Amino acid sequence: MTILEQVQQTTQFIQSKAQLTPQIGIILGTGLGALAQELTIETTLSYESIPHFPLSTVEFHSGKLLLGTLGDKPVVVMQGRFHFYEGYSMQQITFPVRVMHALGVRTLLVSNAAGGLNPAFQTTDLMVIDDHISLLLPQNPLVGPNPPEFGDRFPDMSEPYSKSLIDQSLAIAEDLGIRLQRGVYVSVTGPQLETRAEYRMLRQWGADAVGMSTVPEVIVANQMGMAVFGVSVITDMCIPETLEKADIQKIIAAAGAAEPHLTRLMRTLVSQL
Ligand code: HPA
Repeated sequence: MTILEQVQQTTQFIQSKAQLTPQIGIILGTGLGALAQELTIETTLSYESIPHFPLSTVEFHSGKLLLGTLGDKPVVVMQGRFHFYEGYSMQQITFPVRVMHALGVRTLLVSNAAGGLNPAFQTTDLMVIDDHISLLLPQNPLVGPNPPEFGDRFPDMSEPYSKSLIDQSLAIAEDLGIRLQRGVYVSVTGPQLETRAEYRMLRQWGADAVGMSTVPEVIVANQMGMAVFGVSVITDMCIPETLEKADIQKIIAAAGAAEPHLTRLMRTLVSQL
C-alpha cells in the first residue's frame, strides 16, 4: 500500500470516529501536554488504535490523538509526537501531519523542548521559532515518491513559519506579559545531548535553540501549504563555557514550569485565528 493510500485509510478511520472537521492541528512536545486540558474533547484515539500510526515509545508521552474544540475552534491535537531517535522513518514521523491535512487542517501549531544556544536566553523562556536549520538530519521526509496530493516536489522554504502568526504571537505575549524570545531552531537526531564543540558549532551556524523534533513535521506541513507556528520552551542552557551535566529530570521540570505560559499563548493565538 502506498503512503497516500495509508493516509486515506487513516483519515477515513478518524472521520468514522469523530464528527468535527478540524481546521487547526496542534502537536504538543515533551512535557508540554497541558493544553489538552483546555479542550472540549469530542473523541480520543490512542495511537495504537489508529491504523498506520506508529506507536509512541517515550514513556512520558501519553500517545493520543484528540479531536475537539479549543475555545470555539475545531482542533486535532497530538499529545505525544514521534521522534527519529525512537527508530521511526521520517515518513512515519510526519505521517500524522499528512493525515491532519487530509482531515482539513490548514494551520499547524507545534511546541517542543529545546536547549538554549543564545546567551541572552534563560531556562524556562519561550522562543517563537522564526526559522529552522534542517541540514544536520541524516534523512528527509520528502525523499521518495511524491504523489501530487503531497504537494510540490521542490517546496519553497522562504517562510517556513508564518510571519503573521509570529507577529500575532509577539503581540499576545506582550499583552499577557509573557517573556517570548524569537529565533532559529536547529534540529538534531539525538538521542545523546550535544558536546561542547557541537553547541559551539550550532551557535556559529546561527541557531538560537537546538532540539530533537519538529523540523520534519514542519517541512511536510510546508509542502502541504499549511501555515505553521512553532514555539520552543528553553529547558536547559547550552553555552560551551558554562555547560552543566544534562539532567533529563531538570529538563522535564523546566518544561513544566514554562508550560502555563505556553498554554496561555497557544490558547489566545487559537482564539484569534
Ligand atoms: N539538545 C537537544 N535537544 C534538547 C536539548 C538539548 O540541549 N534540550 C532539550 N532538548
